[in-house]
Amino acid sequence: MDNNKLQPARGVKDLIGDEFLQFQKIIDIARQTSSNFGFMEIATPIFEFTEIFKRTLGADSDVVGKEMYSFIDKGEHNITLRPEFTAGIARAFISNGLSQHVPLRLFTTGALFRYERPQKGRMRQFHQINFEIIGAKEAKADVEAISLAVLLANNLGLKDKLRLEINSLGDNESRAKYKSELVQYFNDYKNSLSEDSLRRLQINPMRILDSKDENDKKLLKDAPKMAEFLSSYAADFFEQVKAGLTNLSIDFIHNPLLVRGLDYYTHTAFELTTTELGAQNAVFAGGRYDNLIKIMGGQDTPAIGFAGGIERLILLSNLVIEKKQPISIVPIGEKAEFMADKLSFILRSSGFYIDLALNGNVGKRLKRADKLNAQAAIIFGDDELANNIVKIKDFATGEEQITNTSQLIDKLAIYS
Ligand code: HAM
Repeated sequence: MDNNKLQPARGVKDLIGDEFLQFQKIIDIARQTSSNFGFMEIATPIFEFTEIFKRTLGADSDVVGKEMYSFIDKGEHNITLRPEFTAGIARAFISNGLSQHVPLRLFTTGALFRYERPQKGRMRQFHQINFEIIGAKEAKADVEAISLAVLLANNLGLKDKLRLEINSLGDNESRAKYKSELVQYFNDYKNSLSEDSLRRLQINPMRILDSKDENDKKLLKDAPKMAEFLSSYAADFFEQVKAGLTNLSIDFIHNPLLVRGLDYYTHTAFELTTTELGAQNAVFAGGRYDNLIKIMGGQDTPAIGFAGGIERLILLSNLVIEKKQPISIVPIGEKAEFMADKLSFILRSSGFYIDLALNGNVGKRLKRADKLNAQAAIIFGDDELANNIVKIKDFATGEEQITNTSQLIDKLAIYS
């Protein structure tokens, strides 16, 4: 086989050793923290009909326009590997008739796929921890979702590394007004706008706020701000969210330029951002999506949610992984060796973590026990076996004791 083909494809990676343990720990912390808010875990399919994403994320969004892994399957269905969770979860909410159970708090995790240019913290296959509160129109739900994101960041040891930015994208009425103001403003600067922003001016002018182009950024300084065009409902809603955060002593920055890359958002948008990952500054991101479920054909169901990128969280957090410490079995002699297999099986069946080297003399086995940071070793030779006794050596205290095999499990209880 061509050696190049033995590499992983561009933008994907293997998770091995400590990195895998960090990955799992992040998911464990997400599961634990969100369960304290009443979140229930679900799993949705890795692929959906392409329409699910095309109709909801926005025809002009980078995700739909350039990044989806779409293909026609053998049954001629147009299929897409999920680039995000929310649209698939909204589909699941409708197909499973879950509307009588609102408000529903749903947690999910898994792999997602976007054909992006790979960079530090930006992959083509990546993973999220994702949270949705479905069927909640109250600003309290926004505060709850944001407070979960903040608490998660704290529990992942990122308290001082992330800052919370929020904005209101208003309702349909507010946005229609704002968009026409923005178009009017930028029409006067068409010659200085970047190519990307010029295109967005036609299709989705609010995405210009997100431009990374230095010249666009200068123009944005004097551009009209969304806050001035919020309807009274949207303005009041945003005030409630801010007051709710202040009530919880959660610090935030109102960033009037914060817009999201997906089109389904309304009202609250928020991100927990870092300066440590270069261009990939959002670690947790989300917002309210009051129209999505209705657009997909469901009942009018307001909702809010957010997701955190696990790869970015691994890069940022220095989670300490506690490695489980085994009990090492150290047989000396042929019969003892045979007995060691049986003893290991019995002890593993009783719930102990047992390490039994596949070969090697006593010295080598004890070295291995030391390397694995074993709690204790059970050492026995053929003679001990004949008398049904073994030696337990405790590595923390250095103490050794001889015990009858019938009492072994009781004696080992302190190591379980
Ligand atoms: P998003 O902003 O597209 O939102 O992604 C959320 C997070 O996923 C980002 O802040 C980042 O940490 C991570 N992420 C996104 N793309 C990549 C990538 N290519 N490589 C590595 N990490 C990445 C959503 O996906 C929304 N569905 C979030 C949401 C849930 N909104 C409401 N509910």
